[in-house]
Amino acid sequence: MYYPDELVEEIRTRTDIVNLISPYVHLKKNGSNYVGLCPFHSEKTPSFSVSPSKQMYYCFGCGAGGNAYTFVMEYDNVEFKEAVEILADKAGVSLPTATYSEEAKAASNRKKRMIDIHSDAATYYYSILKSPMGTTGYGYFKDRGLTDETILRFGLGYTGKSNGLYRYLKQKGYGDEELNFSGLFTFDERYGAREKFWNRVMFPIMDANNRVIAFGGRVLGDALPKYLNSPETQIFDKSRNLYGLNYARHSKAKYFLLCEGYMDVIALHQAGFDSAVASLGTSLTGMQANLIKRYVNRVIITYDSDGAGMKAALRAIPILKGAGLSVKVLDMKPYKDPDEFIKNLGREEYEKRIEKAVNGFEFEISVLEKQFDFSDPEQKTDFYLEMAKKLLTFEDELERDNYIQAMAAKYNIRTEDLKKFVAKQSASMAGIPVAVNKKTYNQSDNKKKEDGQIQAQALLLTWMANEPSLIDLLGEFLTEEDFFEEPYRMTAHYVYTDYAESKTINPAKIINMFTDVDEQKTVAGIFNRHLAEENLSRQEKEKVLNELVKRIKKQNVDRLAKSATTPEELQKLMKMMIEMQKMHISL
Ligand code: UTP
Ligand code: MN
Repeated sequence: MYYPDELVEEIRTRTDIVNLISPYVHLKKNGSNYVGLCPFHSEKTPSFSVSPSKQMYYCFGCGAGGNAYTFVMEYDNVEFKEAVEILADKAGVSLPTATYSEEAKAASNRKKRMIDIHSDAATYYYSILKSPMGTTGYGYFKDRGLTDETILRFGLGYTGKSNGLYRYLKQKGYGDEELNFSGLFTFDERYGAREKFWNRVMFPIMDANNRVIAFGGRVLGDALPKYLNSPETQIFDKSRNLYGLNYARHSKAKYFLLCEGYMDVIALHQAGFDSAVASLGTSLTGMQANLIKRYVNRVIITYDSDGAGMKAALRAIPILKGAGLSVKVLDMKPYKDPDEFIKNLGREEYEKRIEKAVNGFEFEISVLEKQFDFSDPEQKTDFYLEMAKKLLTFEDELERDNYIQAMAAKYNIRTEDLKKFVAKQSASMAGIPVAVNKKTYNQSDNKKKEDGQIQAQALLLTWMANEPSLIDLLGEFLTEEDFFEEPYRMTAHYVYTDYAESKTINPAKIINMFTDVDEQKTVAGIFNRHLAEENLSRQEKEKVLNELVKRIKKQNVDRLAKSATTPEELQKLMKMMIEMQKMHISL
């Protein structure tokens, strides 16, 4: 962190979040909040809400959320420091100029140099590929059926077998320090600079704006690792980029084809499927799914047709759905991947497979089906229950009913009976009589972990933020130690500290305590649970509150019971249990 916390907080308090966001989102007043169409995902009905009292925003559709800084970081795609500078400027707060001009300039300059290094390196690799020194590399791509046009379009290259890149970049005037940061070299005291990529064909990784930010390099033979990728650097965060996005974003297709590897993307583009993208040597992340959602609403997964590919697809489906994307899965059998498929059957056949792609739900069920033996009645019931769980992920009731009907017909069960299974699962998953964040069932990654017990913690924190005096009311019944799971524990800590200091709770300030944008989102989510408490009578409210507190207490007792060994600990537990039974909070 470059700027003092007090300054950061001062800038934030001088910024009004509604004023900040309204130029970008048409906001309408709705009760004490403002609502509008979310700028982070495409939607037709507004689920983006801005709270003047909390100085926060939150999208119930895609989970984007945070304070003024988060908004600038996400919307303008800038780092925290830059967001501070932007907001300071708007708020008319002057930043300490010494740190500002030198550090900021140096940082942005370093970034620019890093991009230049990558662009020059790509030029170098390409020129080697096209030179007499590049015949092995060039021959490799030709053997794999790539045209010169494709090679140029993707800027493919070859390293050669000498330390030529180092010399080339030194000649261009780059220094050892910046070359070291680029990740393209390792520096050794004895041997000096060594190139990370050697005798490999090179795939430049471009960001959405066509800037080369990293490389993937493939061996020519069977050596391992098959692909070597640039490490994460100042300009390369692999979980936030997609290979091929720079072209796919301009495609007319209404969907992205999501594949596993570089060659799949390239083969698809060459065959005319210009909306193919791939995650970069890792499994798909939530951030990549959100990135896709900026451009399209539909994804067709075209992962390898082997076991690993199927597993990866099962993992990716909830992540994509969580970002609000509709998902289909394409079957490439008997071929392994898009590259192989198109080589053998051609683009028209692939087109047909796109049309025949099954939706993500059917794919999941078809995989699930194989895990159960239907001749055993018990297993059959278990299968229905698992299927019911998946059916619950449909938010839209009509859509869910359609699937219930289709599945009932397919698996020979009466629609009414399958509905009962779904209702049963729903009851066992919901638990408390409070409306929860409507995305509970299908938000991916960290949200999914959030089972009933964590929800109780989040709900109570929201309630506290709405009515800080609750903290006094709960008194010793519930203290910050009762929140134990991160980031709830930290959040509770700040909530209690804030209240102790000022008798108020300032969610936007609390969000600032978390530096990671994803953490900020989770915390923003904590403060934005849909609580039905305004609509409840005093009696009902009291009941819900007592239940929530008891749930949290009980979780703690259960947790402690697992680790308690000494008589003292057990006695303490007994005491807690008795107190819990007697406890009643009156409003
Ligand atoms: P594959 O092994 O399926 O690659 O890995 P591929 O694209 O089909 O490779 P070819 O056709 O044999 O050339 C899929 C992706 O996983 C990453 C790469 O991004 C690759 O494209 N990967 C694979 C690595 O990062 N490292 C590896 O060692 C292997
Ligand atoms: Mn492959």
